[in-house]
Amino acid sequence: MKKKALILGIETSCDETAAAILEESTETVPNLLSNIVSSQEEIHKNFGGVVPELAARSHIDKIDLIVNAALKKSKKKLTDIDAIAVTSGPGLIVCLSVGLNFAKALAMTLEKPLITVNHLEGHALSPKLITDLKYPYLLLLISGGHSQYLAVKKLGKYKRLGTTIDDAVGEAFDKTAKLLGIKFPGGPFIEKYAKKGDENRFDLPKPIFNKGGCNLSFAGLKTAVLLTSKKIKNQKEKYHLAASFQKTINEILYTKTKVAMLEFSKNNNNKILVIAGGVASNLTIRKNLIKLAEEKKYTSIFPPPNLCSDNAAMIAWAGIERYKMNLIDNLDFPSKARWPLDSSAPFLKGPGLKI
Ligand code: KG4
Ligand code: ZN
Repeated sequence: MKKKALILGIETSCDETAAAILEESTETVPNLLSNIVSSQEEIHKNFGGVVPELAARSHIDKIDLIVNAALKKSKKKLTDIDAIAVTSGPGLIVCLSVGLNFAKALAMTLEKPLITVNHLEGHALSPKLITDLKYPYLLLLISGGHSQYLAVKKLGKYKRLGTTIDDAVGEAFDKTAKLLGIKFPGGPFIEKYAKKGDENRFDLPKPIFNKGGCNLSFAGLKTAVLLTSKKIKNQKEKYHLAASFQKTINEILYTKTKVAMLEFSKNNNNKILVIAGGVASNLTIRKNLIKLAEEKKYTSIFPPPNLCSDNAAMIAWAGIERYKMNLIDNLDFPSKARWPLDSSAPFLKGPGLKI
C-alpha cells in the first residue's frame, strides 16, 4: 500500500509561531496529529498593533521549540516527515523569513522537499481539514489583513470576485477596539462588548453598500466610529458603539455576500459558501451568514475558531495537496510581502526541482 503523506507545516507570517503535523488519510478528512500555536498577544497588546521587529525576534526564539512540540505531540520523528510546507507570503517579511529559512534549513539537512504556501491559500483550503469539500466553492476570507470574495476553482486556481478597497474587516474590528480603549487584537473583545450594548443606538455608515459589486470598504465606517467615540461619556455607551459597529458589519457582509453569490453563480453550479480567516470566529457573523446561506439554498461551512485564526495545520493541508501534485519549490524561493492569491497558480510556475 502507498505510504500516506506526512507533512510538517510551519507558519510565521505575522504574530503567531505555529507548527503542525498532518497525515494524509483514506478517510474523508486528514489526520491532524498536532497543531501548536504560540500567540504573541502579550508582546504587542500595548502597541495597538503588531511590531514587526519584536514579532520576528519572538519567532526566532520560539520556532525551534514549537516545531519540536508539534513533533513530540504527533509522536513522529523529523525523519518520518515527507515534506516541509511553509508560509512564504503574504505577510511581514521579517517574520516570513524566519519560518521560511528554518524550513529551508530543515529541507536541506533532511533532504526532503520544500513546499512554499501562500498564507491565503492556507485559509482558503482550511475547511478541508474538517470536511470533504468539493471544488468549486465561494469563499469569503475575512482576516486582519484581507477581506475578499473568491471563487475557489481548484488548487492554485482562484478568481477574485471582490475585495476591500481600503481596510480589512479584522482591521476595522481592531481599530474600533483601539478607539474604545481595548488592547490589540480587539476583534474578540468587540464581540464581547457588543453583547452588553444596544445595536440600534448609533446609526453608522455602510460605504459602497449599493454599488461596487461585492467589493468592500470600511474606511468611512472607521471615521464614523472615531467621531462617535469622541462623544462617548461612559462604559455603557462603549458597549452600544461596539454593538452598533458589529451590526453594521453584519449588514454589509449580508448584502455583499448576496452579491458575491450572484457573481459566483454566473460560472459555477455548486452552492457552497465557505467563510474563513480570524474574523470568521465571530459568532454573530456566523449566524448572519448561515441565515443568508439558508435563504439562498447554499451550504455554509465555517472551520472551527482554532482553524480560522492563523495556524500551521492549514499550511500543512495546502502542503499535502501541493505535494500530491509534485508542486515542489526550489530552496531559493523568496518570502513575499505581497502575494495576491489569484496570481499564485502553481501551473504557471511549473513543478520545481526536487532536491
Ligand atoms: O486570520 P487571522 O488570525 O490573522 C490574519 O491573517 O490576519 O485574523 C486575525 C483577525 C484580527 O483582526 C482579529 O481581531 C480578528 O481576526 N478576530 C475577530 C474575532 N476573532 C478574531 N474579529 C471579530 N470577532 C472575533 N470574534
Ligand atoms: Zn491569516
